[in-house]
Amino acid sequence: MSKSSVLVAPSILAADPLRFGEEVKAVEKAGASWHHVDVMDGHFVPNLTYGIPLVKALKKITTLPLDVHIMVSNPDDVALSYVEAGADILVFHAEVAKHGHRLAEAIRGRGARPGVALNPGTPLELAYALAPHVDVIMLMSVNPGFGGQSFIEDTVSRVKALHEWLQIHNLSEKVLIEVDGGINETTGAQVVKAGAKVLVAGTFVYGAQDRSKPISALKNLK
Ligand code: DX5
Ligand code: ZN
Repeated sequence: MSKSSVLVAPSILAADPLRFGEEVKAVEKAGASWHHVDVMDGHFVPNLTYGIPLVKALKKITTLPLDVHIMVSNPDDVALSYVEAGADILVFHAEVAKHGHRLAEAIRGRGARPGVALNPGTPLELAYALAPHVDVIMLMSVNPGFGGQSFIEDTVSRVKALHEWLQIHNLSEKVLIEVDGGINETTGAQVVKAGAKVLVAGTFVYGAQDRSKPISALKNLK
């Protein structure tokens, strides 16, 4: 049976911030599936990155889907502004969404695909009630806040358990499991085998001289 290939979403967190435009074009040419944009507010996570203006600017120069991951304490207040700015997939954190169901429906209502993210220490159950209402469940494989951290091995069994739960509930075709943090060829292979369909990769892709090599290595995992 043929299996659709893995989607690879390079995170611009690991790109050269003085050359974002050229950097996203380079990974696009190298075969990226989505661009992953890590929004950090210095509150939900101990780091501060970029926001709405960058999403708007990226939207003007790329046709690839923008996978916007908002690591902010108040997703209910700001998520729709990112959709207006051009996010195609909007991933918010379950730990801080006050009205996760309402937010997911509102994101979809504005024409984007909602996704929910869980930190490594968050029980999978927190995503279950939202699963029928989102297109993506993202499992963090590092504690969010920084690129270049080591993959947390427990993620593999979490992906497997989530994948099985989605299969039992007839949602595994509809909801993509995305994994974010410490992804390389080895860790990517482990999570793809466990059921992941989208791999975020910052350092592994942007850290390479020739970005087509890491991208095709991840895309071809089975
Ligand atoms: C971590 C971010 C990740 C990060 C991944 O808070 O959500 O997207 O950029 O970077 P690497 O692949 O370097 O771990
Ligand atoms: Zn991310």
